[in-house]
Amino acid sequence: MKDSSYKIQEEELIRSDISEYLSRHETKDLLRLLTCGSVDDGKSTLIGRLLYDTHMIYEDQLEKVAKDSKVYGTTGEDFDPALLTDGLKAEREQGITIDVAYRYFSTDKRKFIIADCPGHEQYTRNMATGASTCNLAVILIDARYGVITQTKRHSFICSLLGIKHVVVAVNKMDLVDWSQNTYEKIVADYNAFVSRLNFSDIHFIPISALKGDNVVSHSENLAWYDGPTFLHHMESVNISTDRNLIDMRLPVQYVLRPNLDFRGFSGTLASGVVRKGDAVASLPSRQQSTVKAIYGPDGEIEEAFAPQAITVTLNDEIDVSRGNMLVPVNNLPHIGNEFEAMVVWMHEDAARSGKSYLIKHTSSMVPGVLTNIRYKVDVNTMKRDKNEEDDNSTDLQLNEIGRCHLTLHRPIAFDSYERNRATGAFIIVDRLSNVTVGAGMIVDRIVSKPGHKASPVSQNIVRSDSLVSAEDRRKLLNQKGATVWLTGLSGSGKSTIAKELEKSLMEKGHLCYILDGDNVRHGLNRDLGFSMDDRKENIRRISEVASLMNDAGVIVITSFISPYISDRASAREVIGDETFVEVFVDTPLEICEERDPKGLYKKARAGEIQQFTGISDPYEAPQDAELTLATQDMSPDKAAEIIIDDLRGRGIIG
Ligand code: ADX
Repeated sequence: MKDSSYKIQEEELIRSDISEYLSRHETKDLLRLLTCGSVDDGKSTLIGRLLYDTHMIYEDQLEKVAKDSKVYGTTGEDFDPALLTDGLKAEREQGITIDVAYRYFSTDKRKFIIADCPGHEQYTRNMATGASTCNLAVILIDARYGVITQTKRHSFICSLLGIKHVVVAVNKMDLVDWSQNTYEKIVADYNAFVSRLNFSDIHFIPISALKGDNVVSHSENLAWYDGPTFLHHMESVNISTDRNLIDMRLPVQYVLRPNLDFRGFSGTLASGVVRKGDAVASLPSRQQSTVKAIYGPDGEIEEAFAPQAITVTLNDEIDVSRGNMLVPVNNLPHIGNEFEAMVVWMHEDAARSGKSYLIKHTSSMVPGVLTNIRYKVDVNTMKRDKNEEDDNSTDLQLNEIGRCHLTLHRPIAFDSYERNRATGAFIIVDRLSNVTVGAGMIVDRIVSKPGHKASPVSQNIVRSDSLVSAEDRRKLLNQKGATVWLTGLSGSGKSTIAKELEKSLMEKGHLCYILDGDNVRHGLNRDLGFSMDDRKENIRRISEVASLMNDAGVIVITSFISPYISDRASAREVIGDETFVEVFVDTPLEICEERDPKGLYKKARAGEIQQFTGISDPYEAPQDAELTLATQDMSPDKAAEIIIDDLRGRGIIG
């Protein structure tokens, strides 16, 4: 047999040079595969055949199987491979908490881990658990029955969980007289439905797992098939390009501080490559630095790739703690506390919209609410249960899959699951029992429609409409409610321009009102400081107030630093693109610092004020503001005049 010589060589190597043996194994690449199908389809037989025909079965287990085959086997005197895996299954059934059994084997080309999920019961939950780390799925089809509902269901879940490679093993070819026609019909049927799914490579192989045809060696009986055998395909399928080497993401698991001179951030690189000297930002604070050194298990290295476990040190003392993420400054993930995801529910207690859970995402755990279950997907037909997107479902039962909207208590840094399995996945944990109840994959699409605000926490909150319309108010006031959103550094001149603008608009007969950072922070927002979260909340509340005042017909002038692009984008969404006029008060930091009207820059430089925008906190300048005012060469009344002209141009005032 092909592998017995390999096995002898391996054993010899173990005896003569154990470190060489180990290093060969370590450097061999690893394929994680998931087998989908039931025992009836020949799943256990196929796995048993692979284990037997390759290497990784202990001798005593083999002897036992040889004995058992004679006693219980269905194959007469022949060895029955299914007994191997079913034997292991009996063991694992004792530990009922283990849903997925992992098996390991290797050939001279590759190492393999098989995630084997038990058949029908709780298939979705088990498959989701097994599939999330797999490169390849083996979909087993019984040649006698062809593509059945279960085949479609398994394929759909694999696709949802981001598996890119599929091998369709058409098994039991011996029972259909090795018929090429039967095989080709199955291939055509599978291709017809699978085009809707997101696989990048699908391969078909006719086999007989029981007899061993096309599993490890080519079969005489299937001479019409000229593709690779099952094992050969497993050994050669190219998975290296599946890795995301572009988006560097290092979720920080530990901060190492062995002495005062060393502060290292440890974690497993979720994706991408990091090199010494790279400019990185820590999320969610967005403070920046450069990589000073990288350490692997054997000491300092120049660069590291996912999924290596590393420790990095930085050139500056910035805020980084457990649960934060280091990313390249020019390639940030999304940062936010709301997203939509496909959620697989894994617990008897159904998911309910409005309920609060713990969301475990990379190395952080954040409380959050399942704000909305938009629709469910029937895993058998891959269809939505609702055609109307807004006709929400209220619960998600065990093994059901639904598209959900989540709102977390604080922002996280995430990518879409499609782009990045590590930073796009999360699990949902029950707050009381601490049990994992669901798993989610973040969808890369902005959550709500423009002008459509995020849903309230309960579905029992219903809007009530007034008898007076916005149009009525517009006629009364002879203006359209709108928001002039001034953004810029502290001391850039926002408040001065706001006051000039207010005065000038009033003189022209327009009702307007200023919302100013320093003022609002005395009342409505007096509980907020200057952390990224607090600034976000500051802007969120202001946006809602401005939106209400706009609805009342008032022209609102806001004067907030609002340093983050994402927060200003949320403000635009809440207020509505048509009535949101973003004005960048573009005054260079040096000038603001020179003016220093409140003496705050001086204090910030002296370290008396933390997180001061421009000094120890970032300011993200707008890229596409409606207006940019370079204030150095412009008086405040000139600035007001430019804005008034712009408002006229937009039809906000006459
Ligand atoms: S924002 O970032 O959340 O938009 P906001 O405009 O409300 O800030 O408040 C900024 C004002 O607060 C500044 O003009 C300044 O007077 C004061 N301030 C006090 N501490 C800070 C700080 N750390 N960063 C920025 N502004 C500060």
